[in-house]
Amino acid sequence: MPESIYIVDLGAHEGETVTIRGWLYNKRSSGKIAFMQLRDGTGTVQAVATPQDVDETSWNLIGEVTQESSIIVTGSVRADSRSPTGFELGVELVEIVHMAPDYPISPKEHGTEFLMDHRHLWLRSSSQVAALRVRSKVIHICRSYYHDRGFVLIDSPILTPTSVEGTTTLFSTDYFGENAYLTQSGQLYLEPACMAHGRVYCFGPTFRAEKSKTRRHLIEFWMLEPEVAYATLDDAMELAEDFISHVVQTALVECKYELEVLNRDTTTLERVVKPFPRIHYDEAVEILREAGQDFEWGADFGGGHETIISEAFDRPVLVHRFPQAIKAFYMEPDPEREELALAMDMIAPEGYGEIIGGSQRIHDHDLLLSRIRENGLNEKHYQWYLDVRRYGSVPHSGFGMGLERVVAWITGVPHLRETIPYPRLLGRLTP
Ligand code: 4AD
Ligand code: MG
Repeated sequence: MPESIYIVDLGAHEGETVTIRGWLYNKRSSGKIAFMQLRDGTGTVQAVATPQDVDETSWNLIGEVTQESSIIVTGSVRADSRSPTGFELGVELVEIVHMAPDYPISPKEHGTEFLMDHRHLWLRSSSQVAALRVRSKVIHICRSYYHDRGFVLIDSPILTPTSVEGTTTLFSTDYFGENAYLTQSGQLYLEPACMAHGRVYCFGPTFRAEKSKTRRHLIEFWMLEPEVAYATLDDAMELAEDFISHVVQTALVECKYELEVLNRDTTTLERVVKPFPRIHYDEAVEILREAGQDFEWGADFGGGHETIISEAFDRPVLVHRFPQAIKAFYMEPDPEREELALAMDMIAPEGYGEIIGGSQRIHDHDLLLSRIRENGLNEKHYQWYLDVRRYGSVPHSGFGMGLERVVAWITGVPHLRETIPYPRLLGRLTP
């Protein structure tokens, strides 16, 4: 049998006979000629067979083969200008590895719940393959961004005794008689590490027991968080806009094929270059009121508010200096207005909402301790965190980027569930 190759590499084998090992995506046959769409994970190719070119056994197998059966096809590589890969395969020999009976996902439309129940099979569909490839590439782009700039990767723990982002969204579990929680963010563990390494980041799964059933919320999502010693809120905003413009512009090049498969109109993404507009919380409230919203100063933005704010701009917008009362306990107060926190959110265009949340952190020991107490947190569990303020404390800042929200925005898929292989949603733990 000739050498097995991947569909993506067909171009290097024009005129040769090769073997492709994959699955049958789709089939059309007239009795005189058969067209099989083959996929192998790297791409799809059309394989054309006639009774004259293949032996009788192969021709019969082509007649019987069902959708998503695993199939090995040997044939000659021919240029074909109509094919997305530029090539087609002239079939010579067919072998069936496994015949798949009644594949549940047919090319016709299915409801979302049905597709989510079959997520383990839905993964094979071309749109899902494209979206998860973008995810994979975006992760690589993000990691390289920090690695290339000298940030040190610090893996934060998943099981923790503390809460970071409020106590209402914690998943608790028993840790040999002690109470433990699934992490909501690696931030508290990055802060000590940035005093050791200067610039650090973590990237891992985070958990929020949120009762929100929206297209922007997952129960388990991945967050990338940088943390920098001696950095101010302004430094964090500068890093955030440089990072996001880099990710989007690099993804436009590296994910060109996948974005075409997903029919993503990329003109809005091409505009995502720094600097991004920066507005004070007060100005964001003004935008909402001018848009006819009955919005009270001091409240937090909901998804609808974020969309209205983002519509005033042609690229992501940074909103800074939020009321302390709606933000986390660890945020540095604004020295000019004590009721505000040195916090920032980055809101993506096109309704994808908050993609980044960050702040300057409190570096004064006594202030942090009083905030821990005011927030009803058990200070016993935060002694190690307070140590950062006992030994060589400095101002420091960082943020967290929600990976799935960024991937949803780049791919243009409407719901976060298509940007993570096995989404955990309110009411869904399977598959
Ligand atoms: O704004 P958040 O809650 O910030 C933190 O967790 C900080 N401790 C991060 C830091 O400063 N190191 O979450 C950060 C980002 C949000 O902007 C959003 O993109 C994403 O995480 N996020 C979610 N993504 C999907 N589903 C959810 N339920 C999310 N909650 C937050
Ligand atoms: Mg936030």
